[in-house]
Amino acid sequence: MASTVAALQTPTPAAKPIGGMSRFPAYRPRRLRRSEALRRLVRETRVDAARLVQPLFVVPGSGVERPVRAMPGVAQLSVDRAAETCRQLADQGVPAVLLFGVPEHKDARGSSALDPHGVIPRALEAIRRAVPEMLLLADVCLCEYTDHGHCGVLRDGEVDNDPTIERLAEVAVAYARAGADMIAPSDMMDGRVGAIRRALDEAAFPQVPIMSYAAKFASALYGPFREAAASAPAFGDRRGYQMDPANAEEALREVALDIEEGADIVMVKPATFYLDVIRRVKERFAWPVAAYQVSGEYAMLRAAAAQGWLDEARVAEESVLAIRRAGADIVITYFAGMLARTLR
Ligand code: PBG
Ligand code: ZN
Repeated sequence: MASTVAALQTPTPAAKPIGGMSRFPAYRPRRLRRSEALRRLVRETRVDAARLVQPLFVVPGSGVERPVRAMPGVAQLSVDRAAETCRQLADQGVPAVLLFGVPEHKDARGSSALDPHGVIPRALEAIRRAVPEMLLLADVCLCEYTDHGHCGVLRDGEVDNDPTIERLAEVAVAYARAGADMIAPSDMMDGRVGAIRRALDEAAFPQVPIMSYAAKFASALYGPFREAAASAPAFGDRRGYQMDPANAEEALREVALDIEEGADIVMVKPATFYLDVIRRVKERFAWPVAAYQVSGEYAMLRAAAAQGWLDEARVAEESVLAIRRAGADIVITYFAGMLARTLR
């Protein structure tokens, strides 16, 4: 015990003989665990609703609330329902939502992503009106808008990087025009943060920040999301643009590039399987770090809780606490609303 503390290079309180008999530990960690007030006093990390972001899936129509089968408690919402949900979230203390759009029409080039009357611009305007204080983060990608489900435009069966980033930059400007508070590109094309930053600046939106999905891994944990966003690739997979789950050093290079190109916040995604990456990014760059607890992470915990095998409120809080402890400043999670309620 004493030697372990010494190994941590902290001052070691000497163990004193008590009653001339056995030597008891001088440092007893349990002393500070005896009441909730003491535990709170020395707590190192907190799950704070102010740092949570709730993702929302917006669909055409009105009065629509269509549950997502693989994500109990999550539903696709029409613009009016999304605005109502945002009102509730704001009242519960959730400061921000991340918006994904599911459009009516899809084509090879994802044209509907540029429709100024599309589902995301309409949602941005309606939520802004109903809940002025809500931070509106707009996910920017083409996979929800392309008929092939890939995150960009294709050439010979591959996503063509440079034409794709030009399109993504146009989409980002359209969302800024509709009132987005932040742009969150999730496509993993090379150079897209720089292209989006330039386009926003040229369109007179220099104040709109970019939260880049900087280290986004080609994960098996996105399955439920693809049902929610109707964005599963029609052929192949995303390994040609998303990162290999085996690579942490490469994640640091991706983050460095995005920071150089102008990212204000860098994201690691998924979160729980990549806590080491979150920690390394935070230590290396000292930049605002977000982590996305993705659909599969949520689905696993919800499924076990539904069986009665895990206590849902406790495991949700512990999972987000772990992500915060690893170094994430901001956590994007489908539990945001539920956590904000239980944290009160
Ligand atoms: C699409 C996108 C995905 C997610 C966020 N944006 C899915 C994917 O890359 O296939 C995943 C989010 C989640 O699983 O909750 N660019
Ligand atoms: Zn995509």
